[in-house]
Amino acid sequence: TWTMVNIVEEQIEAIRTQIGETGRAICGLSGGVDSAVAAAIVQRAIGDRLTCVYVDHGLMRQGETEQVERDFVAATGVDLKVVDAEKRFLDALAGVSDPEEKRKVIGREFIRVFEAAEAEVLADAIAQDGAKVAYLVQGTLYPDVVESGGGAGTSNIKSHHNVGGLPDDLEFELVEPLRTLFKDEVRLMGEQLGLPDEIVHRQPFPGPGLGIRIIGEVTRERLDILRAADAIAREEMTRAGLDRDIWQMPVVLLADVRSVGVQGDGRTYGHPVVLRPVTSEDAMTADWARLPYDVMETISTRITNEVPDVNRVAVDITSKPPGTIEWE
Ligand code: XMP
Repeated sequence: TWTMVNIVEEQIEAIRTQIGETGRAICGLSGGVDSAVAAAIVQRAIGDRLTCVYVDHGLMRQGETEQVERDFVAATGVDLKVVDAEKRFLDALAGVSDPEEKRKVIGREFIRVFEAAEAEVLADAIAQDGAKVAYLVQGTLYPDVVESGGGAGTSNIKSHHNVGGLPDDLEFELVEPLRTLFKDEVRLMGEQLGLPDEIVHRQPFPGPGLGIRIIGEVTRERLDILRAADAIAREEMTRAGLDRDIWQMPVVLLADVRSVGVQGDGRTYGHPVVLRPVTSEDAMTADWARLPYDVMETISTRITNEVPDVNRVAVDITSKPPGTIEWE
């Protein structure tokens, strides 16, 4: 829209003013819309003085990492550093099945891997032009600002975490180009910036990824099973034109549960998956979505036919409260 064109232009100017003619910026990409739009607009403002970092923790859904590596880069021309950390995350998650413990492990590893990558990028920049300030781009939205009681303007973080290999006097400063915007405005801005539809309209997806959608220990094999089932469910929802009617639909693998089935010529002893389609305004409360029977039927038939090890599909009909949206 005309207004959004103006907002984009104004933001680009503001970013140029803040970062200056030589400043270097770094932005972590999560695969979600906020970090993607924040990165895209900063890229418009300062070009390849922005480097994006994407940590591939191996817990993403099918095709999501490629979406960032290929489609997002193609749409924006962003300079992207991808860190393949799957093995590290899976090693750290071995033997962990408690939900809070999983979140802790994933969060901790994520910070370590991201900071190491960040330090590498910045060390390069400093070697090149002796930068004194590193600009950290974040996709903070207006509701986050209000919630954390933050005022207008940008906050300075004087002493960042102790990132090894960087000069002691290096200062970090936040760049938050979305801090006056609501989610729907961020999506408009993403469209305006020419980002792929799959990214602009992606439904919410938790930071710990599929790690908290496997009930039980997280292993590569279980992730592959869940990725295959989830991909089918998403494909059929898109085919039925239902993506914008629901808030999100986690697919959950009950990895520690087995149930008996009969498939082909014989008896199977496989795992159930649970579909968790919900409608919601803000994720604080949610209602279970009444999906059309024929769509559920197709999803169930395809998953049990196409995903070995899954012999049962269940649908979660609990609202929030009492159930949370995610199972963990
Ligand atoms: P719950 O399960 O609490 O989820 O009803 C509410 C919304 O938050 C998402 N979610 C998370 N997002 N890190 C995130 O970034 C997390 O650890 C996390 N846990 C839940 C969930 O997908 C839903 O949209």
